[in-house]
Formats: sequence, structure tokens, C-alpha cells
Amino acid sequence: MRKKVTVVGGGFVGSTTAQRIHDMGLADVVLTDIVEGAPAGKALDMLESGPILGSDASATGITTATGDYQATANSDVIVITAGFPRKPGMSRDDLLKANYDVIKAVVEAVVKLSPNSILIVVTNPLDAMAQAAFKVSGFPKSRVLGMAGVLDSARMSTFVAEELQVSVDNVHSFVLGGHGDDMVPLPRYSTVAGIPITELIATDKLETIIARTRKGGAEIVNLLKTGSAYYAPSAAAVEMVQAILHDKKKILPCAVYLEGEYGFNGLFVGVPVKLGSKGVEQIIQIELTPEEKAALEKSAASVRELVKVIGV
Ligand code: NAI
Ligand code: 2OP
Repeated sequence: MRKKVTVVGGGFVGSTTAQRIHDMGLADVVLTDIVEGAPAGKALDMLESGPILGSDASATGITTATGDYQATANSDVIVITAGFPRKPGMSRDDLLKANYDVIKAVVEAVVKLSPNSILIVVTNPLDAMAQAAFKVSGFPKSRVLGMAGVLDSARMSTFVAEELQVSVDNVHSFVLGGHGDDMVPLPRYSTVAGIPITELIATDKLETIIARTRKGGAEIVNLLKTGSAYYAPSAAAVEMVQAILHDKKKILPCAVYLEGEYGFNGLFVGVPVKLGSKGVEQIIQIELTPEEKAALEKSAASVRELVKVIGV
């Protein structure tokens, strides 16, 4: 039997995530949103691309406005992209609380029907929302993750490949920490065909790449004018879904709950993990220089502040 993935939130990130999963034939997909009609329409449209693309996966769209999540039952993985963008007059804390309410309601509903699922949170502010999902779900920490590091690392790899005019296949970048301006790109652990990029790119160029990576989300927002990135974010979420469904044991940077690792306790922080069918199968600890450690602490402190506001 094919695996089942629910994508909660049928906006830009959610619908492209569902589309990628369907098109790859990775799993049967259920797309949910509080709006009426749109998730069903998008899912049917995806389904009708199956004969062209050769995908036999099913795609179903439902509205959960009435609180009926039955179609999501027994999902293997649930990707949560539901949320609100910041509206005029809204403070960061207002947005944080509004999205916390969304995450709380959604997680309470989905975990009842899919008690063995793995949750991948995408909604911003990412690390705090992942921590909220973890606390609300009551799931073990191995089954709740946040998507950010895969996206931020992909952005860095794009800029490195562009700078060196090499294939993206050769580039492996590593970005740790929270999904904010103080995320921690690690050039020492970022390589091109196994060669650290610190050997290949001059310091000033490297600094430019790091700064552009940190502001990667804002760069897209500024170009789009309304809304934020969704092609690379959905690709990143799907890489995580695939690692889980195919039990790949892939090492990917993900936001996970730390209990002592890297010196942090009771906090979601982006670190390298091994992803397989059981979810987070191992947290990989790497040696950091005092500067790198300080940068990770600064990034984690920002996450801790948000977590304090919503009390999770
Ligand atoms: P969007 O506004 O296009 O979609 C959000 C959808 O959530 C809307 O369709 C809305 O109706 C729906 N929604 C609201 N409450 C809901 C509920 N209770 N149940 C189901 N659906 C609900 O936004 P977009 O571009 O898809 O982004 C989604 C989220 O992902 C945002 O919070 C965004 O900031 C975040 N994001 C995070 C990234 C990361 O790296 N972690 C990257 C890109 C986006
Ligand atoms: C991004 O990095 C908005 O978090 C989102 O594109």
C-alpha cells in the first residue's frame, strides 16, 4: 500500500508541497485548508496531471472549516504549512500568537487521527512553531521536526555553485541554528566535491554568500512584493518527507528538540540529524569553534524569546 501524507494549509507552500509529492508518486496526498473549495480544486487538478506524469498517487483536498479531519486519518507524515502572514498593524508577537493558535488547533486535530505519524512543521516563526507542535502533540521528540535548515542550506549551495560555476550536485552546505537573520551558515563544513569552500572562495566573497543566505527569505519577499518563497521551501519539505518514507537515513539540518546536545536544553534548534522511517534517528554532534558556538547560542536565544512569549 502506498504511504499517506497530509499537507495542512493549502496556500503556496502547502499546495506546491502536495503537488511535488503527488507528481513524484511518493505518497497519496491529502491537502487541507480552512477555505472552502480551493483544496479540493487544487487536489483534483493535481490528480488529473497523473496520466500525463505517470503518477498513480491519489490527491484529495478537504476543507477543515467544520473541524472534520477524518480524511487525514492514518497519515504517515503530516506537513504543517497553515498560518497567517503578518498583516498591517500586527506586531511580531501578534503574528506569533495567531500562528500558535493555528498550530495548536491543527495539531490537536491531526494527532488524534494519525497517532503514529511524523510531523514536519513549516509555519513561521519556524522553530517556535515546531516547539509548539511538539508540546501540543505529546509525540516523542523523534517524531516532530521543523523544516528550515534544508532550505537555508539549499540557498547557500545555490550561491556557492553560482560563485564557483560548478554543478549544484557537487555542493553541500551546512546551515544550523534558528530560521532567522542570525542563522549560522558553517563554511568550514560546507564543501564542493569534498573540498571545504574556505579553500575555494575568498573570505570577502564568502562573507557576501553568508549574508545573502541569512537574508534569503527576505530577498524573495522583496521581489515577489506579496507572499514569500514556496518553490524551494516545498522542495525542502519534500526532501524530508522522502527521507522518512524511503527510510534513507539521510543527514539533513532540521529543527529538533534538544536535550543537552550542543549545550541546549528543552529547545528546538536547527542541527544535523539522521532522518529515516522513525523520524529523527540520531542527532549528529559536530565540533564547533568558540565563534561558531557563540553564533549558535545567539540564534538559539532568539528562538528562546519567542518560545517564552507563547509559553511552550
Ligand atoms: P499562504 O498564506 O499562501 O498559505 C497559508 C494557508 O494556511 C492559507 O491558505 C490559509 O487559509 C491556511 N490556513 C490558515 N489557518 C489554517 C488552519 N487552521 N488549517 C488549515 N489551513 C489554514 O502562505 P505560504 O506561503 O504557503 O506559507 C505558509 C507558512 O510557511 C507561513 O507561515 C510561511 O511564513 C512559512 N514558510 C516557512 C518556511 C520555512 O523555511 N520554514 C519557508 C516558506 C514559508
Ligand atoms: C523563507 O525563508 C519566508 O521563511 C520563509 O523564505
